[in-house]
Amino acid sequence: MSEIFTKVKQLIEEIESASPNSKEELEQFRIQYLGSKNIIKPLFGEIKNVPNEQKKEYGQLVNKAKETAERKFAELQESLEGAAADGNAPDNYRDFDLTRPGEPLELGSRHPIATTLNRITGIFQRMGFTVAEGPEIEDDWHNFTAMNTPEDHPARDMQDTFYLLNSTEMLLRTHTSPVQARTMTAQKPPIRIIAPGRVYRNETISARSHAQFHQVEGLYVDEGVSFADMKQTLMYFAQEMFGTPKIRLRPSYFPFTEPSAEMDVWIGMDNEKNYRLSKGTGWLEILGCGMVDPAVLENCGIDSQKYTGFAFGMGIERQAMRLYDIHDIRLFFENDVRFLKQFAAVI
Ligand code: DAH
Repeated sequence: MSEIFTKVKQLIEEIESASPNSKEELEQFRIQYLGSKNIIKPLFGEIKNVPNEQKKEYGQLVNKAKETAERKFAELQESLEGAAADGNAPDNYRDFDLTRPGEPLELGSRHPIATTLNRITGIFQRMGFTVAEGPEIEDDWHNFTAMNTPEDHPARDMQDTFYLLNSTEMLLRTHTSPVQARTMTAQKPPIRIIAPGRVYRNETISARSHAQFHQVEGLYVDEGVSFADMKQTLMYFAQEMFGTPKIRLRPSYFPFTEPSAEMDVWIGMDNEKNYRLSKGTGWLEILGCGMVDPAVLENCGIDSQKYTGFAFGMGIERQAMRLYDIHDIRLFFENDVRFLKQFAAVI
């Protein structure tokens, strides 16, 4: 009767040493040992010919054959699939077509406002300015009062303000100037910051104006800061940004500076584009500036007898429009990929 025992033991060895090398060979293994007509099944029937005292041992042995086949199949399957994923599988087991062309990668691009902002920020950083930030939802004090524009001040009408629903206190900042107040109340001079960011005004949206746009604020407060320092700083900026130091400062008015000025950069009018952009004057207005009003310093807890400062604020959209020859400000905010894609090569 040991014959049948030997047969089953040999079968177990055979199963253990099987090494199918392809999907097809693995399937043959499965059919042979685990399929509905597998060769282990009939061995269970043989138990009737085994003497009673050996029945238990025999049953265990056939069970072992079955378990071995199951385990072996699982192992083989896993290792063949693993090898296929590694690209090491025998050729006929590969699930991947390595000759198929890859999917093209969609390249994103920076928004032209972001590249313009980065350029401006870089110029001032090289002069030792650091970047400061403030919230877009601002309170009345930082946006107006601290900036020397109290409740009844006519200059509040210069900027049509979006107030938060049911609030006379919270608003969408109308300019980046409140970052001046936030910085001066938090830190002592010397202060030398720029504050890039988004601002909001209740204005009719057209090709030339929008209810949201971007500004860069600048502030320099220290002992002995003069108007000449401001002029030199802004000239350097014009040189770096527009390739010319030719600027002009026109007297102007802002509640937070005294004296105040507006700065134009010479862009010439030798082509139609510059002619149109400068309204036939050759000058492009890019920023407001001035010496920080002593009242603003005092509002923010800075001794105006000891310190002076200059500040400026510039719009970004108009500069970006000139830089990239864009004629409609609305394009910046529509996020149409056909527009944005054109700036893929711009860093
Ligand atoms: N906040 C002004 C505006 O939005 C721009 C401005 C003018 C900022 C003069 C300044 C400044 O810091 O000194 O129109």
